[in-house]
Amino acid sequence: MPEHPILEIKDLTKSFGSVSVLTGVSFSLPGGTILGLAGENGAGKSTLARCIRGDHKPTSGSVQINGSCYVIPQEFTLIPELKVYENIFLGRERVKCGILQKKSMQKTAAELLKRVDCSVSPDAVTGTLSVAEKQKIEIAKAFLFECNLLIMDEPTTVLNKQETETLFRIMREFRANGGAIIYVSHKLEEVRRICDRIAILRDGVLVDDRPAAEFTAEEIAKRMVGRNFSRVFPPKKMIPADAEEVLRTEHLAAGKMVQDVSFSLRKGEILGFAGLAGAGRTEMAEAICALRKRTGGKVFLFGKEVAFSKPQQAKKAGLSYLPEDRQRTAVLPRFSLTDNIVLGSLYKYVRFAFLKRDLCRNAAEKYIEHFHIRTESPETELRNLSGGNQQKAVIARGLDSDPAIFIFDEPTRGVDVGARGEIYDFIHALAADGVSCILISSDLEEVIGNCARVIVMREGRVCGELTGDAVTEEEIMYLATGVK
Ligand SMILES: Nc1ncnc2c1ncn2[C@@H]1O[C@H](COP(=O)(O)OP(=O)(O)OP(=O)(O)O)[C@@H](O)[C@H]1O
Ligand SMILES: [Mg+2]
Repeated sequence: MPEHPILEIKDLTKSFGSVSVLTGVSFSLPGGTILGLAGENGAGKSTLARCIRGDHKPTSGSVQINGSCYVIPQEFTLIPELKVYENIFLGRERVKCGILQKKSMQKTAAELLKRVDCSVSPDAVTGTLSVAEKQKIEIAKAFLFECNLLIMDEPTTVLNKQETETLFRIMREFRANGGAIIYVSHKLEEVRRICDRIAILRDGVLVDDRPAAEFTAEEIAKRMVGRNFSRVFPPKKMIPADAEEVLRTEHLAAGKMVQDVSFSLRKGEILGFAGLAGAGRTEMAEAICALRKRTGGKVFLFGKEVAFSKPQQAKKAGLSYLPEDRQRTAVLPRFSLTDNIVLGSLYKYVRFAFLKRDLCRNAAEKYIEHFHIRTESPETELRNLSGGNQQKAVIARGLDSDPAIFIFDEPTRGVDVGARGEIYDFIHALAADGVSCILISSDLEEVIGNCARVIVMREGRVCGELTGDAVTEEEIMYLATGVK
């Protein structure tokens, strides 16, 4: 073990104005260690990462790094208009005699992409890629920057099992070479598996820091929230096959990603959509909601064929879609939390042609309480909320539009264990009220725990449907990959 730790934090405190986010955090990290950092949404994990990197100046205390540090941020920093290799080399372009070394950068980018198991071309335009692919590009960027301290802020939230395994392999290699990693994640089972040590932040205070082997996932959750905790899914309800059909697609197609999707959704049902990243589930949802051009097939809503040309028409007809890539499509960072929540349903808050701010604020306060959104006030700008709390705001907005059909695309990504349970309860309550829900998720436990019927997609097609006791991890993986 090296003499000096790679990272040494002493009595670190960080406040924004009167808001105190980190208090008296101290720990040190030797080389060859993976430290898991857990904590509820808003506990201060990303702020700690930013203090280590030097983006935030600590209010008091010190951070010392022996070497160099790279942070893979929670929110993507890739520029959509640029090519993949340009994003990888952004700010570190190779130049010789004033000339950009395009060929050499493309070659290195290709090698890095291969290393992270990403099959996209270095010349692809970043904006056209899926979130999982973008995540891998962020990781590839980190490897270009040779550092001995790597901070990963929720790197696997968008990765599937196999991709996560690849990432873990890369992390172990990094550790074997003497590097140190701080791994921030809400996937507690994974944290326990990959990390040597686990540190837990609660309200900005480091309440625990021990070897990973001493924790179970439940214990991590318990230390995070400071009370007893068990993850239970609300009971599943099987909707009879002859129940009212609210949505049906027949051979739905949308370009390459959606080739042949037929299914029906019943009133009050929570229908799961499983599959590997890139199976076309998001694109299917976008095609139904007119966010993507349909190239074939039919969609029926409440028994009538529909052909929406604009997303607003789909919304008016009672369809609400919670997008997967919320950071890009749904968050208004400079607007207040209240505005972000009520923006989709302003008509509810207008009286005699005037927008009633107090009604907006009451509505926002209801959601803030319901989902425990951590904010200084309802008027706080959204960009000042933690990543997970921004997610909750977007979910609240979708719910505020009172839809008849709700498509949730990865609804709990980046959301902590406690709030996850609240979101499940909310979805089940909606279903009990007769709202029909589609749950697209890469978290198998989430699909299995919530859905009595699951459709599995592979390469743009429906490749199977499971119901009741057949909804198991093995069956879903078999259908999703075609391998037993
Ligand atoms: N620039 C800022 N101004 C004011 N408050 C801020 C600012 N940045 C962060 N905060 C507050 O600090 C707290 C901690 O945020 P942080 O992003 O570190 O949480 P986190 O643990 O990463 O949560 P998550 O799991 O949701 O990503 C939050 O309550 C957030 O609102
Ligand atoms: Mg964070």
